[in-house]
Amino acid sequence: MKNIAFRLFLATVLLTGCNTDNPTSGGDTVQDTGSSTGFNYADVDFPDHFGVAATGGMGGPSALDMDNTPEDNPITNDGANLGRHLFYDTNLSANGTIACASCHKAEFGFSDDKVLSEGFEGGETGRHSMSLTNARFYAPGMFFWDQRAESLEDQVLMPFQDPVEMGMTLDTLVAAVEEQDFYPALFEKAFGDSEVSSDRISRALAQFVRSLVSFGSRYDDGRAQVSSAIVDFPNFTEQENLGKQIFMNTPMGPNGAGCAVCHQGETMSAVEANNNGLDANSDDDLGYGEVTELAGDMGTFKVPSLRNIAVRATFMHDGRFTSLREVIDHYGDTVQAHPNLGMPLNMHAPDLSEADRDALEVFLETLTDHDMLTDPKFASPFE
Ligand code: HEC
Ligand code: HEC
Repeated sequence: MKNIAFRLFLATVLLTGCNTDNPTSGGDTVQDTGSSTGFNYADVDFPDHFGVAATGGMGGPSALDMDNTPEDNPITNDGANLGRHLFYDTNLSANGTIACASCHKAEFGFSDDKVLSEGFEGGETGRHSMSLTNARFYAPGMFFWDQRAESLEDQVLMPFQDPVEMGMTLDTLVAAVEEQDFYPALFEKAFGDSEVSSDRISRALAQFVRSLVSFGSRYDDGRAQVSSAIVDFPNFTEQENLGKQIFMNTPMGPNGAGCAVCHQGETMSAVEANNNGLDANSDDDLGYGEVTELAGDMGTFKVPSLRNIAVRATFMHDGRFTSLREVIDHYGDTVQAHPNLGMPLNMHAPDLSEADRDALEVFLETLTDHDMLTDPKFASPFE
């Protein structure tokens, strides 16, 4: 009895102790911008299926196994919230017109509907913008279509310094952040003091981009109700389940296009760059081969996650397809025998009837996560 009473006493002391980190030292008043509203980025409750190895295609790692969060930059709520401000801040481009969000728009799955995006002076980007959905779950941790950025921390500083995109230097970037009066408080919350540096900008932005994960689509609702991705989902129509089968099964068996051989697991991306037969040669764009200079990488590109794919037109590294149907027709009819064409396309082009194509299309539409696309924690803090 006595012991329990003592424990209760101790617990009360400890709990009260926890409350003493309320700001009591009246001296340094922390200015709140009103936009640090306590969003939860750090402690996300992923559904169980994110921890399960892939069953479609030829298998593959689970989504959580693909997590590229580095040990020295875990997501914190204040870090990602600072990153959100940086992501939407047009003052961080040379003429104050462009933010990351200008080319990575929430309504288009954090990509751009334009074939090529416009930079701060109206110049065009070299490739089509990429969706940022699930950048966290790309195991090689390399970014851009050609995987030239070694990590997300490296990647997020590159658009600022790109002469077409944002036209800044790291010095002008730091100065543009320091000029705005709401940033010191956000840096202090995220990093303990208000010092602005390009390293801190990179860490905060990488945390925000990594927080853009999707697991609230109709696909997820169905997946949560069954033991494996290849079992029919109770919440799907017959046609959606047929489309799922065609996506998941290899082309060696019936009802199979083998999409999941490359678009693996719950994020429907891969662990290696690949070639999907858009062109017979790589004269226009060497892709990953330009980075490694290896013959086997020529014309290979990052395999993007297909989450939110139905809102992401246009498609592919050069934005050549304007609808999902055109993408599906490519896989059905026009796959080119590129020397690095990936499995299973190099063995067996998918044989797709019109009904199969319709089914694949409605299946891909189940991957749209409306909750995520409209979640205020991913939206602009400036509106
Ligand atoms: C002017 C348009 C534009 C702006 C501004 C822009 N991006 Fe991008 N982004 C692109 C394009 C185009 C690509 C693909 C380029 C390539 O692969 O060569 C891309 C690719 C990316 C990728 C790679 C995704 C992946 O899966 O590999 C990330 C991450 C990214 N951008 C984040 C950002 C961040 C953070 C900012 C702001 C600091 C930003 N972008 C600003 C157009 C833009
Ligand atoms: C051999 C591997 C492979 C197979 C099989 C494959 N894909 Fe892809 N997929 C890729 C690669 C690589 C890209 C990016 C290509 C590029 O832009 O150069 C891609 C891109 C896409 C895109 C565009 C993504 C975007 O962000 O623009 C869609 C949609 C897509 N694939 C759907 C499918 C469907 C549906 C199937 C099955 C019919 C399929 N893929 C089969 C490798 C593959």
